[in-house]
Amino acid sequence: MTADVSRPPSPSTQTSPETLSLVAFTADHISGAHRLSQAAGWPHRPQDWELLLGTSVGVVALSRGQVVGTALCSLFGDVAALNMIIVDEQMRGRGLGRRLMTEVIALAQSREMRLCATTDGLPLYQKLGFVKTGTVMQFQGIAKAGTPAHRIELGTAADIAKLAQMDHDSNGMDRHGLLMQIAQDARILLAQNGFALVRPFGRGYVVGPIVASDCTVALSLLAQAGTLCAGQFLRVDMAPNAAMEQQAVGLGLDYVGGGTTMVHSARPRPVSAFTTYAIAAQALG
Ligand SMILES: CC(C)(COP(=O)(O)OP(=O)(O)OC[C@H]1O[C@@H](n2cnc3c(N)ncnc32)[C@H](O)[C@@H]1OP(=O)(O)O)[C@@H](O)C(=O)NCCC(=O)NCCS
Repeated sequence: MTADVSRPPSPSTQTSPETLSLVAFTADHISGAHRLSQAAGWPHRPQDWELLLGTSVGVVALSRGQVVGTALCSLFGDVAALNMIIVDEQMRGRGLGRRLMTEVIALAQSREMRLCATTDGLPLYQKLGFVKTGTVMQFQGIAKAGTPAHRIELGTAADIAKLAQMDHDSNGMDRHGLLMQIAQDARILLAQNGFALVRPFGRGYVVGPIVASDCTVALSLLAQAGTLCAGQFLRVDMAPNAAMEQQAVGLGLDYVGGGTTMVHSARPRPVSAFTTYAIAAQALG
């Protein structure tokens, strides 16, 4: 095939990975990062990137001032969630993904590292020593009202300290700061032994995390999220659980795919009275 001499090659195809600069991810990079995530088919809005950057450190790859790669490391106490690993399609397969991962692994220091892998990312993460721990199932659609079997109330930011403790018990992550940030823009659903956050995300709303002492409480929280968002786009990302999956489908949400949860340098965790039934986001666990 001969090159079209009437048009210059696109900047990214002329750039080799060696000529890239990797710099700290700042708010100035969000619009470039958003362009990348859109090109990858991800629904994140600039505000969703802002939320992630608010609890993360990270790195971007720049080529002639353009963001061509991103990687974030969200710091949650003893655990780091690695996320938003994206390489411009024109630059893939040339080692940039590995370079970005190497940077954020260093930012995680000695923490346990978790991530949710796409099919694209899985081989890279396996090569870097991450091991599979489970799967995430993504359901979404136009929500229908549900019928909670438990009494659900609306909480306020004043409840977040208690909820962050339940969240920590269920998954080992210290996410008080993240939950406070989410709470600014979210509905807080409270059950006697559990809670859920419903916030704007991507194409509509997302419910997560859903943390509860048992599945019946989680089912009620999910049902209430359906009621809250009835007639609007709602998404939930969950570990496989037949009752929760059935509830999601009953609320009008379809299974649309998911990801593989992975860990590196896992630490033992005490048995907890709480379980995370739906994650905050694939990026955040
Ligand atoms: C995942 C992604 C970031 C990888 O970026 P990349 O720049 O292409 O990755 P690299 O070129 O550094 O390749 C990484 C390694 O994976 C290997 N690899 C890639 N695809 C593979 C496959 N199908 N089977 C086996 N190995 C594979 C490469 O050979 C390379 O190994 P090496 O470092 O030992 O040579 C990129 O594909 C991407 O942005 N995908 C879309 C967004 C996405 O899904 N991100 C992952 C989110 S969890």
